[in-house]
Parts: sequence; structure tokens; C-alpha cells
Amino acid sequence: PIDPNFETNREPVDENEGVTVWGPVDPPEKLGIHGTHVAVDFDICIGDGACLEDCPVDVFSWVDTPDHPESEVKVEPAREDQCIDCMLCVDVCPVDAIDVDPG
Ligand code: SF4
Ligand code: F3S
Repeated sequence: PIDPNFETNREPVDENEGVTVWGPVDPPEKLGIHGTHVAVDFDICIGDGACLEDCPVDVFSWVDTPDHPESEVKVEPAREDQCIDCMLCVDVCPVDAIDVDPG
């Protein structure tokens, strides 16, 4: 599962669509954790899509991640500022790739 303490254990190394990326990043195999309030571990995500389908406020956008070992699509939390902390995405992800910090 995603490390809930990633903000302590990792460094911000990049931005993608305005979303902070927490390293280490070494594409195409290592893509880091994307987002801060709504954080998706791209190295765990298998592109299931339940988070994107269930989010009531449309936080996520598909992005292509060719040659990543787990999946060739991931979800960018591009509108994480819209999140209402319902925790649906955290609950439905089959691989526990998402961390949301309420408040
Ligand atoms: Fe969307 Fe709810 Fe997840 Fe926030 S916690 S990103 S509102 S599904
Ligand atoms: Fe990925 Fe989990 Fe969403 S596998 S696409 S973060 S439901």
C-alpha cells in the first residue's frame, strides 16, 4: 500500500499538471507518488479506474504511463483541491494506491 507518511519519507521532485510528484522518480519504471492532499502511488496503481469512476467531484484524470510494469495508465489527482474527503477512492482501490488526508 501507499506510505501514509510519504510527505516525511520522500522529497517533492517534480510537478505534473500542477500536481506535486514525490520521488524517487526514474521513468518509465518508477513514477513516484502524485498529489499531496489526494495522493496516488503511481508505482502501485494498476489502472483499475474505480477511483475515477466513483469520485463525486471528478478529482482524477487518466494519464498514459507507457512501459510502467504495473499498468500503462494511471490517475492524476489533477483537481485534488476539489476533494470533499468522502474517502470513496481510498475504499474502492483494489491495491491501496491512494491516501487522502482529511482536514
Ligand atoms: Fe474524490 Fe472522495 Fe477521493 Fe476526494 S476522497 S478524491 S472526493 S473520491
Ligand atoms: Fe489506480 Fe486504484 Fe484508481 S489501481 S486507477 S488508484 S482505483
